[in-house]
Amino acid sequence: MPEAQAICQEPEVDFTVLDRIIFDDYGGNREAMIMMMQAIQRQYRFLPEPALQYISQAIGIPLTKIYEVATFYASFSLVPKGRHIMHVCTGTACHLKGSGGLVQHVAARMGLDGGGTTPDLKFTLETVNCLGACAVSPVVVLDDRYYPKANVGQLNRLIEQIDTE
Ligand code: FES
Repeated sequence: MPEAQAICQEPEVDFTVLDRIIFDDYGGNREAMIMMMQAIQRQYRFLPEPALQYISQAIGIPLTKIYEVATFYASFSLVPKGRHIMHVCTGTACHLKGSGGLVQHVAARMGLDGGGTTPDLKFTLETVNCLGACAVSPVVVLDDRYYPKANVGQLNRLIEQIDTE
């Protein structure tokens, strides 16, 4: 974990939001635990510990079980992520087309040590193994939008947009 992540400020958990998700949206139904966790992840961009404790008590599922699920699925995060999330594919096809250099370039520009989240929680850089688009490698995804045949110039423009926010 990069040092920057250690100083990220976690957001306050709003329990009225949790009540809306747990009870209004899913009727407090234990079977909907994963969907509740997904909704909380969308809300906070990670799963804050107080929120997991609250779900545990609200629907009567042990906290250890909730953590098991949270750590099993790669889509869940237990640490805060940035408002913008960039995934750079480092699978074989993308690696051969230079995605490692893209990772290094973005990390250097954002002051990250190979990946992670900036201290202001504006940006997260992560690598993934294969995005299923090898024919147009190297592939980068920023905030769920795909950028095929990504290059340094294009990534610089994306970073500049983020910087100006
Ligand atoms: S290896 Fe990158 S999309 Fe498949």
